[in-house]
Amino acid sequence: MVLREPNINKWCYNNAAEYRTIEDDTMTTYKELGLVNSRGLFQKAVKGGYAIPAFNFNNLEQLQAIIGACVETKSPVILQVSSGARKYANSTLLKHLAKGAVDYAKELGFPIPIVLHLDHGDTFELCKSCVESGFSSVMIDGSHHPYDKNVELTKQVVEYAHKYDVTVEGELGVLAGIEDAVSSAVTHYTKPEEVEDFVKKTGVDSLAISIGTSHGANKFKPEQCTRSADGVLLPPPLRFDILEEVEKRIPGFPIVLHGASSVPVELVKIINANGGKMKDAVGIPEDQLRKAAKSAVCKVNIDSDGRIAMTAAVRKTLMENPAEFDPRKYLGPARDQLKELYKHKIVNVLGSNDKA
Ligand code: 13P
Repeated sequence: MVLREPNINKWCYNNAAEYRTIEDDTMTTYKELGLVNSRGLFQKAVKGGYAIPAFNFNNLEQLQAIIGACVETKSPVILQVSSGARKYANSTLLKHLAKGAVDYAKELGFPIPIVLHLDHGDTFELCKSCVESGFSSVMIDGSHHPYDKNVELTKQVVEYAHKYDVTVEGELGVLAGIEDAVSSAVTHYTKPEEVEDFVKKTGVDSLAISIGTSHGANKFKPEQCTRSADGVLLPPPLRFDILEEVEKRIPGFPIVLHGASSVPVELVKIINANGGKMKDAVGIPEDQLRKAAKSAVCKVNIDSDGRIAMTAAVRKTLMENPAEFDPRKYLGPARDQLKELYKHKIVNVLGSNDKA
């Protein structure tokens, strides 16, 4: 059979499994795009006591903000795309945006390591399609399935993805909240007694766990919270006891926290002061995330805070300039606000600055 070496336009005859067939010719490998997988980044992060930011994106301004913030702070980054975002942005455009991000970082003067990651993949076919279109990392979220089915599905994705050196994130335990197509009314905390068996049987490279974070901008119901003296909702603390137990059972293994937006009160106030209606929004306090980032947690997912930062800037700009109709005039300030938010997260919460 005629085979081709990955990433090298050289034809050869070989049966070696690592060579890809000419039927795969439509495939784009992540290395062709200049991306990296997450393996090396996670090893360094676990040892160094910091976490890599995983910022969701689906458009140009978000990408400019992410790359600008990460280059200025010299941070590695995980560009994260959900299946909904992939449909919204188009997978061909996304592939070129990711390659553009690599070149843009170089142009800005500091070539940071960039991972392109599928957030909450729910089927083998979706993960395969992402591997084939240049993703360097995929998540297979089988957490809603019974344990054995989660193991089986995750293992199937790992076996395929590893052929192309693409890293895989699995999940045990279920987060409450809503994010695109993913939703759950209640939290099911990760059972530490399952993690060792899951990691061994599936071969995953990292594991998302549930310790009380939650997706979206309304992470907890007001009745689950207390209130500070000035009326701000204070959520129940994260379950660090579960995280510690997980770390004991799989020492040094890369752990992922989803649902890690803090829902900044001052940005929610700007939204509501400019015609918005965000009620009882509450997130995870940043001091708790800082503590988590110093542990084996080496990837922290932040999406809602970015949405909130952009919405606050767009609403304020349009309210102050009602005659404005050039999208650059309101998306530009939104991009600037987003970049500032990301720099803050990198330097003050995750500690990934100067780690690129
Ligand atoms: P937030 O909604 O807290 O930003 O979480 C995003 C996330 O976990 C993406 O997978």
